[in-house]
Amino acid sequence: MCGIVGYIGKEGAREIILRGLTRLEYRGYDSAGIALFNNEEKTFNIYKDMGRVAHLESITDFSYPSKIGIGHTRWATHGRPNQVNSHPHQSGNHRFFIVHNGVIDNYKELKSDYLEFNTFDSDTDTEVIAHLIEKFSNEMSVNEAIRKTMSLLEGSYALAIMDTENSEQLYACKNKSPLLIGIGENGIIISSDLMALVGYSTKYIPLQDKSFVEISGNQYVIYDVIGKQMEHDIKTIDIDYFNIEKGEYAHFMLKEINEQPSVIRTIISKYFDEDKVTLNGEIKKALSVSDRLYIVAAGTSLNAGYIGKEMFEKMAGIPTEVHIASEFAYNMPILSSNPLFIFISQSGETADLRAALVNVKAKGYRSLTLTNVKTSTLAREADYYVELHAGPEIAVASTKAYTANLAVLAILAYGLSNQSFDLRNELSKVAISIENIIDKHEYIESLVKESLTKRNCFYIGRGIDYYACLEASLKLKEISYIQTEGFAAGELKHGTIALIEEGTPVIAIISQRKTSKNTRSNLNEVKSRGANTFVISTRGVHEHGDQIVLDDVYELFSPILTIIPAQFIAYYAALHRGYDIDKPRNLAKSVTVE
Ligand code: F6R
Repeated sequence: MCGIVGYIGKEGAREIILRGLTRLEYRGYDSAGIALFNNEEKTFNIYKDMGRVAHLESITDFSYPSKIGIGHTRWATHGRPNQVNSHPHQSGNHRFFIVHNGVIDNYKELKSDYLEFNTFDSDTDTEVIAHLIEKFSNEMSVNEAIRKTMSLLEGSYALAIMDTENSEQLYACKNKSPLLIGIGENGIIISSDLMALVGYSTKYIPLQDKSFVEISGNQYVIYDVIGKQMEHDIKTIDIDYFNIEKGEYAHFMLKEINEQPSVIRTIISKYFDEDKVTLNGEIKKALSVSDRLYIVAAGTSLNAGYIGKEMFEKMAGIPTEVHIASEFAYNMPILSSNPLFIFISQSGETADLRAALVNVKAKGYRSLTLTNVKTSTLAREADYYVELHAGPEIAVASTKAYTANLAVLAILAYGLSNQSFDLRNELSKVAISIENIIDKHEYIESLVKESLTKRNCFYIGRGIDYYACLEASLKLKEISYIQTEGFAAGELKHGTIALIEEGTPVIAIISQRKTSKNTRSNLNEVKSRGANTFVISTRGVHEHGDQIVLDDVYELFSPILTIIPAQFIAYYAALHRGYDIDKPRNLAKSVTVE
């Protein structure tokens, strides 16, 4: 949700910031902007507009050298995406330029309490911060003015700030929204995440909440809100540059779908020693002593959580509940006496999960984060974390993180169980079966062209297939904009069947022997009302005429397979409609606002 990049040093700020913003664009792409110091003419210039970073690049003046600047790519929260609401924002007398990721909950109160006579250009909460810093800096140093402003802000923020009266210094601060400082040989980058640093610096500092940093040249000092210097850890970046490039693929999503077999194999290599699962002893203990697991997640990770529940209950016999993070944060159910909370998050930065984690920690409960980003806030703040090892996922629509989640959840559930089947072999079979589906992608494309011609669609299934349907429908709707629902097959006839018309596409996922006949009768019910049906099944339960038949795998692992054709269906439906697959409208990859 919004990406911010700042730079100060000996190199070209404009180029470093624009490259960083391009890498952060998955965090939001409603508008983009940059403010730069012109080192020749000693002026500050601002360029911003609706649209993508490529457009920003086309309106930015490249004719002068610039060694300091800040930039932003926006996912609108306050105020429509337009030129005026784009960042950077300026203070009333244009002394300060700021970029912001987050949401200030009390910006209206701050306006009326401190800025009653100020006029504002935009509808954003951010502009209020710039005005406050300017107001306070009339009475105190900039360092103190920013910290005083921080002490008044309620909500989340990562801010980069430039002072036009001092072109040698850059400021940044954060609370709840992520912010890193990348230390390069010739300068320092501020960024919302590691992507913008890759290729520039190998060392970085993840800033803690309520911290403030003053940077000049290669020097930086980190303070807390009251101005006391803070300790900090310097970490090493271990992301490979090639992992964040598209390579030969037309889209990141296609690349990431294709990477899934190798992701499963990486996970096997990380969590097995020969044929034995190697789980961290403390994590294993925390999981096994708890009387109930509470999985808390959002979106695709939530859909993975439902399948995780099946695995924990059916493989390990541990009662498990799954909760929508944004609901759970403010409406906790009655908890068991010894719960363990599992936060599932690809990015590890989702604000809805963070809010829930804060509540859980305040109550003294233990927590475990499953994440793809081991340096993320949720990984840092939970008692334990387990890494997904999916590699950087860039497309907004999550694919390989979902399958990685399922594989890691399977390993955790197995590690807690008395099961004796050969898990390593079963997961290896899954990787091969995914490759078999990838080989059929052209056939899936032709099915999509023929069948997905309507504005709406249903995925139906039962049990674990129903949970797979939830993810399949999320994929289709988020990138093709076809209104799609994932439905429990038996529930459709209790009302929603009224939406079935001549030609409505209904896709059934059938992989479970116990319920395959029932789902097929539900499919017949919609077919006889005009639906255009097709079936994704596994060999053991397939019937003549099923359009996509997948290999048989261990029954609880079937969602790792059935989702693959669904990912291709979504991809091709979006491709043939001409949509921006990697950056679907209204979305962002890292949802750092509640
Ligand atoms: C959909 C998608 C989102 C995320 C959700 C949670 O393709 O990616 O639904 O799954 O925003 O994000 P994380 O997993 O980063 O917490």
